[in-house]
Parts: sequence; structure tokens; C-alpha cells
Amino acid sequence: MGAGLKGLRGLRGLRGIRGRRGAGGYEEYDWGYFPEMAISTIEFTSSGSVRILDQRLLPGEETYADLTSVEEVALAIETLAVRGAPLIGIAASMGVVLGAREIGKWRLEAGRGGDGGVRRAVDGAIERLRATRPTAVNLNWALDRMASVAATADTASMFDVLLEEAKAIHAEDAEMCRRIGEAGAPLVKNGATVITHCNAGALATGGMGTALAPIYVAGEEGRVANVMVPETRPLLQGARLTAWELARSGIPCTLMTDSMTASRLSNDDISFVIVGADRIAANGDVANKIGTLGLALLAKHYGVPFYVAAPSSTFDPATATGADIPIEQRAAEEVGRIGTQQVAADVPVWNPAFDVTPAELITAFITNEGMMDVDDVGGGR
Ligand code: MRU
Repeated sequence: MGAGLKGLRGLRGLRGIRGRRGAGGYEEYDWGYFPEMAISTIEFTSSGSVRILDQRLLPGEETYADLTSVEEVALAIETLAVRGAPLIGIAASMGVVLGAREIGKWRLEAGRGGDGGVRRAVDGAIERLRATRPTAVNLNWALDRMASVAATADTASMFDVLLEEAKAIHAEDAEMCRRIGEAGAPLVKNGATVITHCNAGALATGGMGTALAPIYVAGEEGRVANVMVPETRPLLQGARLTAWELARSGIPCTLMTDSMTASRLSNDDISFVIVGADRIAANGDVANKIGTLGLALLAKHYGVPFYVAAPSSTFDPATATGADIPIEQRAAEEVGRIGTQQVAADVPVWNPAFDVTPAELITAFITNEGMMDVDDVGGGR
């Protein structure tokens, strides 16, 4: 957990493919009005690797890396080479497929372990991947699906059925994103200015995103919003990722530092705030990128609607309230440095990656099943 800058450098040596989009998969997906936003965040290649767009290098470099082991997938998740709740779940499910092949086949060929060995290999992969990041429940959701498929598969077909399930998880996520977009698009008036936070767009998912999906679908329908993008310290997902994908899609956006959101909301010209989520507890409390709580409190103060857009895989009825959501603490260097530049004095650092927004601050949820009142969240999965 919290691999820090050492871990961040660790993946740089992977087989990077600069500027190349993945083959297959995303070309078949209907990107509607925005073909230029067809971002292949992840795919399982025909040569058996998990190809990821390395998000640590954006916006400077569009580089793909081929991951060939469970450990490489786990490191990619821990170092945020792949990030965003839905995408973490997809990556982990593909990592399990690698586990079934790399360890299971080796053991079988060596005559060691037999059926039990393959199952232990798959269980080991799931356990390693489950330990990568604690907050986004999509990770557990996807791994639970892989575990349940593995439990009933025979050893000979294990790889194939796991691959099929991982591809289903990916495809379902893309579909849920579009449905979120369709549910939320009516909120977007032409010329409106909205605020988002972190990156809950195409880069965070297997499709067109969650919080940004209504903006994209409204754009398809001819209504264009201006998106205010807080930079999202410490790792700058807003400045590096959201601004990059919106600009690439031709959606007007304006960058600001996190500390400018209060001032911007006081200007009285913001239609609504829209964010994604990493986990939604049974009572409607939401864990999302650090800074979301402050934005929600400000929106309440200024009477601006605050929407949370999320697929059903982000709702966690097993977690009663926000207080029960595990919050990831990350390495001190992430706060002390900007990029590789040390900017802070040598003092202790507090670096929670997420905060919890209480349900009472949320106007409504935008889900793949439509708009949902906060009171209805308990039965929302
Ligand atoms: O640490 P990250 O970059 O994985 O955090 C991402 C977020 O907090 C997103 O807002 C959330 O996962 C929703 S993504 C559709």
C-alpha cells in the first residue's frame, strides 16, 4: 500500500508503447459524438498481457504498458498507473486471469499442485490484488465476481472462463457509464458552468466515465457545458487527467487550484457540482477523492446542487455508514513533492487519499438505473 515515489519509478521499465492505442476492444464501442475521446484505458491483448494506459505519465506522454504478471498489475494499481474505482476493478479482474495462467499452468506442467494448486494460485492472485487499495469497493466487487466464477470452473477451462468474466466486467462498466450519462444529461443546460473533482471520466473507467458522462452525453445532444476542474492535490488527477480528457474531447474546461473552489462557488454562476465515488455506504455516505467533502460543504453553503454519479458496482450495502469505509493513507512524498520536486519542509505529513461526504450534503445520485434519491440508497444495488 502507498508505494510512494520509489514504487512509482518501479513500473517505468515496463514494456511501454508510446502513443499507441490498444488493438481491439474499444474500437467496437459506440463513442457516439465524441470519437476522439475513445480512450483505451485497458485491454486484455491477444498475446495475453494486460495493456494499460499509464496514467502517471499523462498529460505529457500517452504510453501503454503491457503487464504480464499479477504482481505487475498489483503494482500498477498501487502506484496509480491505473486508477479510478471502476477501472481498478477491471484491472484486478484481468490480473486474476494472469494469475490463472502464470501460476496455475506452471504448476500443472510441473506436475505440482494439480487442481488444488490452480485454485490456490487463483486465490493467491485475488488475495494480492484485494490488498492493493482499500477504499474503492469496485475492486472487491470485481474480485468477488472472479472468485465466484473460479469456484465453479474446472481446472482445464479456468483461464477461459476467468477471461470471459473479466471481459464481461469491462463491457458492463462501459454500458453502465453510458447509462449514467443518459440519466444525468438532462441536468446539463447549454452554456452551463459546472464543477467536478479529481478524475471521474473515461480515464477512470472502462467507458465514458461517471461524473463526466452526463457532460459528454449532453454534448452529443448539442448542449455544451464549461467544466471547472480543481487540480486535485496531491496527485493532480484534475489538472493532469480531467483537463486532458476534456480538452481532447472538445469540452471547454477551466483549471483552478483546489483552494479556489470557494471563491468560484461564491460567484453565483455554477449550475451544479458533480463528482464520482469510490464507495457509497448503505446510508448514502460517499467516499471519494480527498477534497470532495469540502466541495460538498461549500455547495451546501452556496445553495448549489451536489450530485454523485456512480455505477451500481460502487454501492456497498455491506458497509453501514461512511465511518465504516476504510480510507487509504498514502506516502508522505506525494504531499511533500510536486512531481519529483521537493517543495515542503521536512515535517510529518497527513495524506488520506479520500474523504467521506455525509449523505445529507448530496442532492441526488446519478446511477446506471437512473436518478436516485439519497433516501433510496439502501436498496440501490
Ligand atoms: O486515487 P484515484 O485517482 O483512484 O481516485 C479516484 C477518485 O476518487 C474518483 O473520483 C473515483 O474513483 C470515481 S471514478 C469514476
